[in-house]
Amino acid sequence: MSKEDFFTYQAQTSPHPLGLEISHAKGSYIYDTDGNAHLDFVAGVSACGLGHCHPKVVKAIKDQVDRYMHVMVYGEYVQQPAVEFTKLLAAHLPKDLETTYLVNSGTEAMEGALKLARRYTGRTQIIAAHRAYHGNTMGSLSIMGFEERKSAFRPLLPDVRFINFNAIEDLEKITDRTAAVVLETIQGGAGFILPQNGYLEKVRERCNEVGALLILDEIQPGFGRTGKLFAFEHFNCIPDILVIGKGMASGLPVGAFVASHKMMSTLQDHPKLGHITTFGGNPVIAAASLATLQEITGSQLIEDTLEKEKLFRKLLVHPLIEEIRGKGLMLALLLQNKEIVDHLILTAAKEGLILFWLLFEPKAVRISPPLTISMKEIEKGCDQILDILNRYKPATVN
Ligand SMILES: Cc1ncc(COP(=O)(O)O)c(C=O)c1O
Repeated sequence: MSKEDFFTYQAQTSPHPLGLEISHAKGSYIYDTDGNAHLDFVAGVSACGLGHCHPKVVKAIKDQVDRYMHVMVYGEYVQQPAVEFTKLLAAHLPKDLETTYLVNSGTEAMEGALKLARRYTGRTQIIAAHRAYHGNTMGSLSIMGFEERKSAFRPLLPDVRFINFNAIEDLEKITDRTAAVVLETIQGGAGFILPQNGYLEKVRERCNEVGALLILDEIQPGFGRTGKLFAFEHFNCIPDILVIGKGMASGLPVGAFVASHKMMSTLQDHPKLGHITTFGGNPVIAAASLATLQEITGSQLIEDTLEKEKLFRKLLVHPLIEEIRGKGLMLALLLQNKEIVDHLILTAAKEGLILFWLLFEPKAVRISPPLTISMKEIEKGCDQILDILNRYKPATVN
């Protein structure tokens, strides 16, 4: 295999992919085919919460592969890994979030959540937020709050309206026509924007007043990344439908939406098979999800996340860093302009530190390392960031 084969045969998502050639990965490091170690401050865009190839997850996967891999489409047979995972998840969630529908990706989980909201309420309108990201299939794209990325694919879902995240005055747009309001608990692509001044509580209240459902997308902040198992626990606001994925299976493809048993049961009938999937709930992925959740909830990792955040904030002080946004190990460095962002990310890539961009905020650099990252590794990576920023010289205009 050559690098050209990658460009020729594998579809690309952008004209200039980073193109790192991977040999293997372990803990906080990814190793390239030239034998270089890269300290991973991105964790597969928040998917590898337990680092790379966590031994307990690898063992669970191998044990399951030896037993069976796929036996039937979702929901027909009783498969122990999926049942045990959904039961353990329910034990860690509020009582009305007791039933989980397992799917294959975050965006499919959002599709399922949107369908469930329409089916349960009998209403059609969906309200989402400007600068929101919920995935890339047609439904999720319809509620993406960034026109530039979606206009080429119109027409999209009808009856979608947008509000500004954190704007209380917009809440009156939520009415008795609204099936659901969909929000990221912490806006990711927009630049790791936290809800402020009781915003989510007020959204919750408004939804209750008009009978709309609240869907929270925790695909990125979920599974311990913000210092709670789910970020909504910081904000005194329980959603009707919780959408999860990414860190759930430590790097295997996964997603899920969670709701009350009563609500979820409406997908069973009228029409029958209201949402179906071949591979959702796949036993290998469910085994990885179970091992991941056991490790996250049975260790100090979630508490340690907040200590690790403190260390990042203490170390990353530099005149070119204007602000650090986010919570826990979901942090964004806000720099003065995109040129400095590109300089930092691309130089770091050459020097063995993995950083990445955020989708809609050109001044931001993503820091979302594995939750298992050590204090020493944080210090090492932060030293590298400061060193690269110290070496930055603005391009001269001729
Ligand atoms: C907040 C949020 N929602 C949805 C998604 C889509 O998940 P997936 O890429 O697994 O479809 C992502 C992925 O980045 C995300 O960050």
